[in-house]
Amino acid sequence: MSASLRLGIVGGAGWLGSAIAGAALSAELVRAENLALSYRRTKPDRFPGVFWTDDNQALADRSDVIMLSVRPQDWPSLELDAKGKLVISVMAGIRMAEIGEKHGTGRVVRTLPNAAAEVGKSFTPWIASGDATELDRATVRAIFGACGVEDEVGSERDIDYLTGLTGSGPAFPALLADAMMRDAVAFGLAPEVARRAVNTVLTGTGRLLELNDASPADTVEAFLGYRGTTAAAIETMREAGFDKAVAKGLAAAFLRSIAMGKA
Ligand SMILES: NC(=O)c1ccc[n+]([C@@H]2O[C@H](COP(=O)([O-])OP(=O)(O)OC[C@H]3O[C@@H](n4cnc5c(N)ncnc54)[C@H](OP(=O)(O)O)[C@@H]3O)[C@@H](O)[C@H]2O)c1
Repeated sequence: MSASLRLGIVGGAGWLGSAIAGAALSAELVRAENLALSYRRTKPDRFPGVFWTDDNQALADRSDVIMLSVRPQDWPSLELDAKGKLVISVMAGIRMAEIGEKHGTGRVVRTLPNAAAEVGKSFTPWIASGDATELDRATVRAIFGACGVEDEVGSERDIDYLTGLTGSGPAFPALLADAMMRDAVAFGLAPEVARRAVNTVLTGTGRLLELNDASPADTVEAFLGYRGTTAAAIETMREAGFDKAVAKGLAAAFLRSIAMGKA
């Protein structure tokens, strides 16, 4: 993929849009002068040399690939004619067919990155519509490969499920870390020591998982095998409903994702 890509990100001033813009620039997929980013209220002063605009049609007209990165509730009022160009959505819940119909293109890709795109560690599932070309697919792989790991999936239902599992995913280890932190502070550890301890456990575990690429079940089994403090904790957490709580939470996210698309 050459740096001649002309990319426009609607909502490029936002959290995810800016993260993707930063990743595409760093990976030299796009040159600053070929990157258009739109904002609604205030023009940001990030990304020198890019084309900032509050006119989404102007963004679309100067781009070959148009990314939609506004919140789902802001999408119905977004007017933009893509004129048959590739449109990539990162919006949760919105169906490919609706996007194509509204923006005048059959080349639509629905993706669902996550907040770790900001550090090049997103997991991004995606699915392409029937009219998307092989070059369109290569473009999507390049953009989201620059943001972390990407996978083409078989159905929009998979995207709806992954909206919870990985789209919301960074929140779940954060939730575990918060519970561990509260417990440590309640025990009496100094908060700054507790925070360093918990954050280091999380980042260390992430690094180990990345290097070993082991199945999570095998990792848990290896810890259980010691029959020590870790096994005592895991077994007690499971008896208290840990696995069930996770499954119920993911089911709630899945249902919410489907409901967002119907709203
Ligand atoms: N953040 C994540 O972890 C994550 C993960 C997966 C998927 N997503 C999806 O990514 C999308 C963006 O999320 P986000 O977290 O980046 O939200 P965000 O930070 O609120 O960014 C959305 C941006 O869109 C701008 N905007 C709204 N309407 C616009 C318009 N008509 N023209 C130009 N800009 C417009 C907003 O501007 P104002 O600030 O002026 O309103 C805001 O800067 C959402 O659809 C979400 O479902 C996000």
